[in-house]
Amino acid sequence: MKSMHFLEKVEVQSFIDRRGNLGVSELGVNPKFIIKRIYYINRVPSEASRGAHGHKQLQQIFYALSGSFHLMVTDGVNTDSVTVSEMSNGYFLPAGLWRDLDNFSSDCVCLVLASEPYDKSDYIHDYEEFRNWRALK
Ligand code: TYD
Repeated sequence: MKSMHFLEKVEVQSFIDRRGNLGVSELGVNPKFIIKRIYYINRVPSEASRGAHGHKQLQQIFYALSGSFHLMVTDGVNTDSVTVSEMSNGYFLPAGLWRDLDNFSSDCVCLVLASEPYDKSDYIHDYEEFRNWRALK
């Protein structure tokens, strides 16, 4: 598989002082999407992985509020991956891609901003099915 630039950085500005850290992401005057849902993932065992599905329409932004995790995305042909950490930016994940999340640190809190409410029919859980769906797109 070739690597490709699917994931787009969403800048986080950190304000660190003796009281701790405050992180800010301004999504801009032309945001990529209106946030309709947020969810977070925490307490992930070190050997566990998450994701392992594609989304047809859903767009998301991933942050690590604490700790870190590894995010791999693919269109079935090309891949992109990044370690998302509390020290890094957020990452915008466009629609139509498969994602795998793993290597969670024990203190990891992953925050996800999503463009749509939860919709089971937007998921593709089988990788071969995802590849076929992409090929027909
Ligand atoms: P799952 O898709 O397995 O999480 P991940 O993408 O991190 O692997 O979701 C776990 C459970 O949570 C599953 O039963 C569906 C439910 N869920 C909701 O009800 N609403 C949501 O917004 C999300 C993201 C998941």
